[in-house]
Amino acid sequence: MEFPFDINQLFSERISILDQNLIASRQSKEKPDLRVKIATVLDELGKASAKAQDLPAPITSASKLQFQKHQLYLMKDGESSRGRGVVVGFLKVGYKKLFLLDRNGVHIEVEPLCVLDFYIAENLQRHGYGIELFNFMLQHQNVEPVLLAYDRPSTKLLAFLARHYNLRQSVPQVNNFVAFEDFFHKRAVSQLRRVKKSDGDIKPYSLMEREEVRQEQRTLPWPFAAPLSPHSSVSSQCSQSPSAGSSPRRVLPCVTHPAFAGDSREQSPHSPLMDCCRTRRSK
Ligand code: ACO
Repeated sequence: MEFPFDINQLFSERISILDQNLIASRQSKEKPDLRVKIATVLDELGKASAKAQDLPAPITSASKLQFQKHQLYLMKDGESSRGRGVVVGFLKVGYKKLFLLDRNGVHIEVEPLCVLDFYIAENLQRHGYGIELFNFMLQHQNVEPVLLAYDRPSTKLLAFLARHYNLRQSVPQVNNFVAFEDFFHKRAVSQLRRVKKSDGDIKPYSLMEREEVRQEQRTLPWPFAAPLSPHSSVSSQCSQSPSAGSSPRRVLPCVTHPAFAGDSREQSPHSPLMDCCRTRRSK
């Protein structure tokens, strides 16, 4: 992705790590105008990623990053665009408290690092940039791909994980996160907390980024709320709907697990999302 300013001035490294501070280099810390440009880059990347996944609104933006404890790995090609550099893509990860089903259908409380958003510019996909970026993140976080949870991965991401890391078998979940076989086996027992039926105060699993966006859209008063597309309405989430990106969605039966009935900072107990079935991409 090209920008009307020098990308190399903003990002000194081939892969920069950004967090809440939006600081990509010593320079950008000192110069506020550079931070404005970094914010523009993040906003454009977020929009492009949302478009690629057919999301109603971006789940990545400068303002969101400033308020979330996520880390964003941004990759550039410093030589393109007559030496001004282009942005190749980004990968956003963060920890989420989740209630996942293990192989035996037992709810386990975990707080894994999750892949939340991942995007490589259209014209640069399938050139090996994705794997370079992903491997960088794995090394930086000192984690294996099987120990990550994936927030409603697209078919492209599923193909990517199968191709590069041989991750093929996922354990079915009632939320939109995907965990692969060995996610539970490889995790230290101390990191796994079985959820007992008597745990009345169990918080719902973290609301995934994509549904937060949908909820934000719904709670905005007219005329600020963008009209919901037919496939983003709650009712249509329970039925066959067009999918994000090129990935088809598999519709799960409506599930409202009692374990999820509780209060949450992120999700109202009466949220329609709680009552609605969860849709997820097929493998
Ligand atoms: N169709 C099917 N598989 C694909 C495609 C595609 N169009 N593009 C990439 N892949 C998979 C394949 O396994 C491919 O291997 P192959 O060419 O031998 O079949 C492999 O990825 C290529 O690996 P890289 O070149 O390293 O990956 P790339 O640079 O293309 O990045 C990514 C992968 C990020 C998924 C990219 O394709 C992309 O941005 N897609 C659009 C946005 C998207 O779907 N992001 C994931 C959202 S879900 C989430 O973030 C939790």
